[in-house]
Amino acid sequence: MKAIVYERYGSPDVLALREVDKPIPKDDEVLIRVHAVSINDWDWGLLQGIPFINRLFYGLLKPKKKILGSDIAGRIESVGKNVKKFQPGDEVYGDLSGDWGGFAEYVCARENALELKPASMTFDEAAAIPQAAMLAVQGLRDKGQIQPGQRLLINGAGGGVGTFAVQIAKLYGVEVTGVDSSGKLDMLRSMGFEQVIDYTQEDFTNSGQCYDLILDVKTNRSVFDYTRALNPNGIYVIVGGFLDRVFQALLLGPWISMIRKKKIRIVGLKPNKDLAYMNELFEAGRVKPVIDGPYKLSEVPEAMWYFGEGNHKGKIVITP
Ligand SMILES: NC(=O)c1ccc[n+]([C@@H]2O[C@H](COP(=O)([O-])OP(=O)(O)OC[C@H]3O[C@@H](n4cnc5c(N)ncnc54)[C@H](OP(=O)(O)O)[C@@H]3O)[C@@H](O)[C@H]2O)c1
Repeated sequence: MKAIVYERYGSPDVLALREVDKPIPKDDEVLIRVHAVSINDWDWGLLQGIPFINRLFYGLLKPKKKILGSDIAGRIESVGKNVKKFQPGDEVYGDLSGDWGGFAEYVCARENALELKPASMTFDEAAAIPQAAMLAVQGLRDKGQIQPGQRLLINGAGGGVGTFAVQIAKLYGVEVTGVDSSGKLDMLRSMGFEQVIDYTQEDFTNSGQCYDLILDVKTNRSVFDYTRALNPNGIYVIVGGFLDRVFQALLLGPWISMIRKKKIRIVGLKPNKDLAYMNELFEAGRVKPVIDGPYKLSEVPEAMWYFGEGNHKGKIVITP
């Protein structure tokens, strides 16, 4: 089969389209013909071997897993003898992070990493959902305890998580402000953000505006800046971003919560946990993934450069 392979850490230029052996499913795995796969921040980090801590798990000097790509959608071709939930022909999707292998024509997956894809959902849409939508749902609902009537701000609103988060937030009847670069603001307005802020022109933490909930995929400021932009009893939810800022929030969060009565929470992704919920929302027409692409498997190196430059809107999808 064809796959995008890398043998050493580096820029997207180390990725190459190769002919490799088709994987064979273990007893508790299924073999999937991949119809679509999306790019995540994990792929970007593992490609370069950053942050360094990743190398302790995934290869100190060179990558142990040679094929990246976690969020896949496809059709099951065969099943291992212990697989109970699926059969050949089923259309499935899910987040395979930890195992990866999605930038390929076929991939093996454990059945508990997969959910059946609704017939009305395309493979491209399904591949866009797993990580970004789980982070959005778990960030807003579980960590953010989102409530009707609140004012929400999403920092880094035009990427994968932000474009799902605004749609989920609208289900709760909240007013949403989105922060991103100028080229994405029209898209944000068309998606229902009531206010948009160009971060290259304005620092929302110094505008005097306050929010009940902040969902942050960039975490590029001090935790004190973020809490300044929170209303009393407001919640600041970190999805991801600069590690030093995340550690600062982790360290100072409990003290700030005690003294200023504002809460700081960090999302620990529970992969695939809410895919059935996403199926319900999708089938009810409440959520529609924003897709950048699709691009061909051979275009993964260019698509990775594009992802790293941050120019994409929503989720970059590849169709092997
Ligand atoms: N907590 C967990 O367990 C967990 C697990 C997996 C992933 N993650 C994290 O989840 C996040 C993934 O988010 P995503 O998929 O939405 O990323 P994404 O698609 O790259 O979107 C990020 C958006 O932020 C914008 N941006 C860049 N710099 C900004 C700034 N200074 N201020 C405001 N916006 C800015 C980018 O646009 P421009 O570049 O055009 O500005 C882009 O539109 C990552 O941080 C990742 O580390 C967390």
